[in-house]
Amino acid sequence: MAVLKIAILISGRGSNMQALIEAAKEADYPAKIACVISNDPTAAGLERAREAGVPTHIVNHREYNDRQKFEEALDAKLTGEGVQLVCLAGFMRILTPWFVERWRDRLINIHPSLLPAFPGLDTHKKAVEAGVKFSGCTVHFVRAEMDHGPILIQAAVPLLAGDTEQKLATRVLEAEHKIYPEAVRLIAEGRVNIHEEQVFIARSSSPSAAAFNPIPA
Ligand code: GRF
Repeated sequence: MAVLKIAILISGRGSNMQALIEAAKEADYPAKIACVISNDPTAAGLERAREAGVPTHIVNHREYNDRQKFEEALDAKLTGEGVQLVCLAGFMRILTPWFVERWRDRLINIHPSLLPAFPGLDTHKKAVEAGVKFSGCTVHFVRAEMDHGPILIQAAVPLLAGDTEQKLATRVLEAEHKIYPEAVRLIAEGRVNIHEEQVFIARSSSPSAAAFNPIPA
């Protein structure tokens, strides 16, 4: 079976990266992790990747005079590894339109909210403060505007009484670890099409019922 070669770009602890690494260990998983790249040499995820035997690269943004030079170095690594899909997983650099266009429809991101709600940082704080009854996470194709682009898969996660930012983050992260490997699988199986900036997924099913929070008596 031909497998899709993916790269995972990280800046930090790399728990979503780990979820992808675990998924890729399954014999029938249709993607293979070509490499993990971090812009930060101290990212904890690098060690986790090495332990899993995944090739790692550091492209330290501080060593480049401008954003595009940094991205050219990143692009060279990705091309050199024969990467077909780039997965951002807690990658804390804003990518320029040049890079985003170069990898258009081959570049995905995971964000810990139900986009387009709460883009940017401090997502869970914003959700708790807004008093929403559901938050969640989103995997989307990347466009030049931050946390924006065709939505591939979402998980809705309820807020519970007494929730703090941290408690919500933990609950959402668990869902992230499920949807990211699933999103990559759908792409690798060739089931994903983008038409007029909307994602269509072949042979997929959706929940038939609404979720309520609180549950009506
Ligand atoms: C995740 O919450 C992800 O949605 C966001 O950054 C966080 C990265 O966490 N983009 P990890 O490094 O994958 O553990």
